Amino acid sequence: MKVVEEDFYKAIALLKAGEPVAFPTETVYGLGAPVFNEAAVKKVFAIKGRPSDNPLIAHVCRMEEVERLAVEIPEAFYRLAKAFWPGPLTIVLRRRPEVPAIVSAGHPTIAIRMPSHPMALRLIEAVGEPLVAPSANLSGRPSPTKAADVKEDLKDRMVLDGGECSVGIESTVISLVGPKVLLLRPGSVTQEEIEAVLGEKVGVASKNDPVHSPGMKHAHYAPRAKVRLVLDETQIGEANYLIASEPVGSAPLFDRSNFYSRLREADRLGVEEITIYCDPKMQQDAGLMNRILRAAGLMH
Ligand code: TXA
Ligand code: MG
Repeated sequence: MKVVEEDFYKAIALLKAGEPVAFPTETVYGLGAPVFNEAAVKKVFAIKGRPSDNPLIAHVCRMEEVERLAVEIPEAFYRLAKAFWPGPLTIVLRRRPEVPAIVSAGHPTIAIRMPSHPMALRLIEAVGEPLVAPSANLSGRPSPTKAADVKEDLKDRMVLDGGECSVGIESTVISLVGPKVLLLRPGSVTQEEIEAVLGEKVGVASKNDPVHSPGMKHAHYAPRAKVRLVLDETQIGEANYLIASEPVGSAPLFDRSNFYSRLREADRLGVEEITIYCDPKMQQDAGLMNRILRAAGLMH
């Protein structure tokens, strides 16, 4: 999809003036603001209605920018970046004191990712500093995977239209700040892929882990409709609105790339309950299952 050049320059001007702008990444759309502009970062929290204890991800367009944000960068970081960047992996490092604390909700750490969407890279480059960007939805709603989804939640906010996101769920988040590498949020880059690059086992952060993923304790990804999850096809029964990972009658199909958009569709139709049928193969997708369980209120 082509963005008109004019929109692009408008987006740069707004960002430089401290006005948040939504832009596409390969995972989901993000609501961007320059990382060193504290007032603009504050606006991002306000616009989304995001709890102030939930830290943001800084998006970079080149490796040197990581050193503007983080200190004591371990060797494992470079190996992971080489393997997965640009792409859907976010890495938590120790924050440089010059980076406003609000970005990380006061934590001494900073989450960093280099997205692969060309429009995101171009925007970060043009603004001249990393952009914080949480998903561009109202806090708690399913993440937006196309420009119209952003408009639905954020009304008059400018959004650069970069078409549909190819990945469709948020990035994998891992932490390199503790004694052990920890997976904080599953995504399309899998735990096994990370372990293969590092040559070591990765721990998985649990809910009770005081350490890290503050975002995981908040309600997330939920449509307004009630969600009923079915893992065995024979249990589907009388579903009034069904989405399925494998053909079941004429039910709309879903996969990782359109899952959120199916939830939003159901909400637009005003259905009271969505039944989600997830076949055994899809159940192996840890990133997608995490979002489905949260949408169904089965995981917090
Ligand atoms: O794919 C993505 O990551 C998208 C696109 C726009 O890049 N962004 C995104 O941002 O999903 P957000 O804010 O919706 O989710 C960020 C997650 C939250 O779970 C947050 O708690 C965690 O990353 N996080 C951010 N900074 C952290 C930090 N310093 N330590 C631990 N977790 C952190
Ligand atoms: Mg989010």
